[in-house]
Amino acid sequence: MTHDIQALDRAHYLHPFSDFKALGEEGSRVIVSAEGVYIVDDQGNRILDGMAGLWCVNLGYGREELVDAATRQLRELPYYNSFFKTTHPPAVKLAETLCRLAPAHINRVFFTGSGSEANDTVLRMVRRYWALKGRPDKQLVIARENAYHGSTVAGMSLGGMAPMHAQGGPLVPGICHIRQPYWFGEADGQDPEAFGRECAAALEEKILDLGEERVAAFIAEPVQGAGGRSFPRELLAGGQGGARQVRCPAGGR
Ligand SMILES: Cc1ncc(COP(=O)(O)O)c(C=O)c1O
Repeated sequence: MTHDIQALDRAHYLHPFSDFKALGEEGSRVIVSAEGVYIVDDQGNRILDGMAGLWCVNLGYGREELVDAATRQLRELPYYNSFFKTTHPPAVKLAETLCRLAPAHINRVFFTGSGSEANDTVLRMVRRYWALKGRPDKQLVIARENAYHGSTVAGMSLGGMAPMHAQGGPLVPGICHIRQPYWFGEADGQDPEAFGRECAAALEEKILDLGEERVAAFIAEPVQGAGGRSFPRELLAGGQGGARQVRCPAGGR
């Protein structure tokens, strides 16, 4: 069974963020089920899913109430679009719930199928917003080096991952990158507080450099993900101050 699936996988399935030579030689890891915070592979190994899928299985696996809700909805109305002034009750209710939970100034939701699509959309939206406000020159977006904002063309252009930029041909124009607040790798022993302020100041300097009238938005991950996460050491068991960066294997994952 494993070998059949791996052979079919090798023959037909293009994986994102994978080294195809290694995949071909070693075969893919086959995940067959999951429960709570664990995934199970086809060898019966139960693995703690520290990455929560791709940071998106926040509620855990095997939640019966989600299975029931999805089953009910698939029977009633499995799909309809929301173009051309159309809507449907579950989407409206979800939008309302999200706005209730979000900070007060966030009061509208635009649904997408992935983080990459969300960031593509946000880039178009922010540029359109300023154009409609009568400021069509306010189009530049500031992002951070080593940030990850997705793998579509706009997502990787907004992101600051040099290896992805090197792969991708011309990037979406009008996106500038400033330094990341990467204390562990770039502070050179500097006081963390002072280093943080210096990185924050880099944003202001870039806005002044480009001209406020040309800058449409700044995009950043509230907590850096794919580029590596830096934790204050006291948050890690047995730590004694300082910070530690946790880096994921190839491709930043
Ligand atoms: C901060 C951030 N933005 C965007 C994305 C892209 O999301 P998706 O993989 O759903 O396209 C990710 C994915 O890991 C992410 O961590």
